[in-house]
Amino acid sequence: MTAVENPETPMGFGRMHRKEDVRFVRGKGTYVDDVALPGMLHGAVLRSPHAHARIVSIDASAAEAHPKVRAVVTGATLESLNLAWMPTLSHDVQAVLATDKVRFQGQEVAFVVAEDRYAARDALELIDVEYEPLPAVIDAKKSLADDAPVIRDDIEGRTGNHIFDWETGDKEHTDEVFAAADVVAVQDMLYPRVHPAPLETCGTVADMDPVTGKLTVWTTTQAPHAHRTLYALVAGIPEHKIRVISPDIGGGFGNKVGIYPGYVCAVVGSILTGKPVKWMEDRSENLMSTSFARDYHMHGEIAATREGRILAVRVKVLADHGAFNGTAQPTKFPAGFFGVFTGSYDLMAAHCEVTGVYTNKAPGGVAYACSFRITEAVYLVERLVDVLAYDLGLDPAELRMRNLLRPEQFPYESKTGWVYDSGDYPATLRAALDLADYDELRAQQARRRERGELMGIGLSFFTEAVGAGPRKHMDILGLGMADGAELRVHPTGKAVLRLSCQSQGQGHETTFAQIVAEELGISPDDIDVVHGDTDQTPFGLGTYGSRSTPVSGAATAVVARKVRDRAKIVASAMLEVSEDDLEWEKGRWFVKGDRQAGRDIQEIALAAHSDLELPEGVEGHLDATCVYNPPNLTYPFGAYVCVVDVDPGTGQVTVRSFFAVDDCGVRINPMIVEGQVHGGLADGVGMALMQVMAFDEDGNHLGGSFMDYLLPTSLECPSWRLGETVTPSPHHPIGAKGVGESATVGSPAAVVNAVLDAVKPLGVRHADMPLAPAAVWSAMRGNPLRT
Ligand code: CDP
Repeated sequence: MTAVENPETPMGFGRMHRKEDVRFVRGKGTYVDDVALPGMLHGAVLRSPHAHARIVSIDASAAEAHPKVRAVVTGATLESLNLAWMPTLSHDVQAVLATDKVRFQGQEVAFVVAEDRYAARDALELIDVEYEPLPAVIDAKKSLADDAPVIRDDIEGRTGNHIFDWETGDKEHTDEVFAAADVVAVQDMLYPRVHPAPLETCGTVADMDPVTGKLTVWTTTQAPHAHRTLYALVAGIPEHKIRVISPDIGGGFGNKVGIYPGYVCAVVGSILTGKPVKWMEDRSENLMSTSFARDYHMHGEIAATREGRILAVRVKVLADHGAFNGTAQPTKFPAGFFGVFTGSYDLMAAHCEVTGVYTNKAPGGVAYACSFRITEAVYLVERLVDVLAYDLGLDPAELRMRNLLRPEQFPYESKTGWVYDSGDYPATLRAALDLADYDELRAQQARRRERGELMGIGLSFFTEAVGAGPRKHMDILGLGMADGAELRVHPTGKAVLRLSCQSQGQGHETTFAQIVAEELGISPDDIDVVHGDTDQTPFGLGTYGSRSTPVSGAATAVVARKVRDRAKIVASAMLEVSEDDLEWEKGRWFVKGDRQAGRDIQEIALAAHSDLELPEGVEGHLDATCVYNPPNLTYPFGAYVCVVDVDPGTGQVTVRSFFAVDDCGVRINPMIVEGQVHGGLADGVGMALMQVMAFDEDGNHLGGSFMDYLLPTSLECPSWRLGETVTPSPHHPIGAKGVGESATVGSPAAVVNAVLDAVKPLGVRHADMPLAPAAVWSAMRGNPLRT
């Protein structure tokens, strides 16, 4: 990556330092835990020590007698308010506080409101809960057994743990292609349960004003508008009396999409006490009880000719959804966007079946830095391609090159019905191979293998589908996936952009200002971006699945163009010419054929507010609004090459280098894009080598702190080497595709493929993530570990 030294503010797209960093590097950010209101009380959650147990009784009297305790909320309290259960994002229900049973370790059982955080925590220990332990089901396969304990006996008529079956593709045709194929490679693989683990844990400050009846909620949410609507629907509070503020957010990665019991309890606590109530979970609470990701047990098959032409892919997935089906994805997609498991290849046929099951684990299944299960899909197909290369004795780069979609096939409809918008895949793979000096790496590997060293080179090629809607196909709990934007231009030509989406650190205050700058020629320094406050911004579905640039970014370009059109009407009045005689150059309208005769956007903004007689079409200012309903998703893609060294004695993996060529269409701010890619690559290394949310047989959570659930640090990461190709999205107003999650989606397969390439001489064909030393060492000895 090229170093960036004090780049000047560009009048549009280009490198510039992040505007928001001015406050972050000075410690002036405002996170939920920074909010302190007069008279504020503090909440703490009592959690279940059992993974599965019946609640016999709860005695809160000693806690209530604590001198600093103001309220103790139990499931019974909530039942009286009809709030004991709340809807999940997947049309299931989840207990806010357990009433009948606890269904995972760490589940919320009671909530104490006290004068300070310490007293609230102390009082938790005074609550006496009698449990009757039940056998727990932790293994997704065992949960389907006839004699497995029924986890969700709260749902009438339920006799087992099966949630749903879903399929996509053409089964019959796929089976025919498989039957006729020369070669079929088969591999079972697990994408383990992982956790988004944002550095800022989840929390809320709820303030119900007993006089005005207005509820203000400062909360860690990636979707403030959707949260407001859900609070209104579930709690019956009029929507205009709810204000959700999502201030600075310290990372979300999908973890902050849903509504957690702690949020609801803080609201109830505030209603009961008449005071603001703050609830901030600690690290262990975040890791144990908030939304996990993945937990996909996949059986993959890939059919090909003897020469290495890939023909078809067939998949069966067992999806572990935990105790409540709280996965986050558009309603019609119970397996998220796993349907893109066909990858970046020109297949004849594809078919996939997914079965979802309940287990005694925390609910979730969120899109952790990924567009709804695409990480799982990419991992599956990219491992299958490598397994096929292994079986055929082909070079994995060559095998991919032979089968990638060709540029002339775009727009391309996949065998599962996804319409990829644009791409030149071979060029991107070639760029990555050149960047890595692939042939030289293979030569070096051969030399090292002769010396007994285990060097591995792993590839992945991914296609993502990001930017949900379109509305007619995609909604979350009935709310269509479109985004609003409003743009105000003040008389002096400075502007305020109000967005429905919400940044968790991706630099929206900079890049969205740059989109307006590009369209209007107002400097990004003169544009404020307002987001994360439902009283201040238009409705929209929020930020996850890299949807901000594809949807809100498009809304921003469209609203800026509306302002430009209004400015044209005003300019025609100012210049006393017809609109048809005007031409636009960045920042000004001028008379065709006479560049001197023009007015810049600042002059036009002032005139729009002046006593100038305004023509029809403008009422007195340039401000505009827009709701953007995307016509399709955008399909970013990329090619990654990872180089690792494996210690033959210990199985320890060192990522020596990593080459990433991403294509996210037009780049608004290449520096921010590179930062997003760096973060995602680090995430991928973590998942591939270090991370798993493990449980023992009784359902005890084994990863409740960063001592056990390991985050990658700079020590595990090499100096990333990045490249780019640019294939604009044909339907996005500025040709941009999303990028926030590309690297998390694409990199785990590259790292795993590299490790398996390193140990290939020992006859290892597959091993499951995380490839920690023990797992690699066992695989090297022909005895792969089961996670
Ligand atoms: O939805 P989220 O912000 O997580 O993801 P995104 O839309 O992919 O954007 C991540 C960051 O990269 C934002 O600041 C974008 O505006 C920026 N970006 C960019 O500069 N150029 C692109 N083509 C895509 C994203």
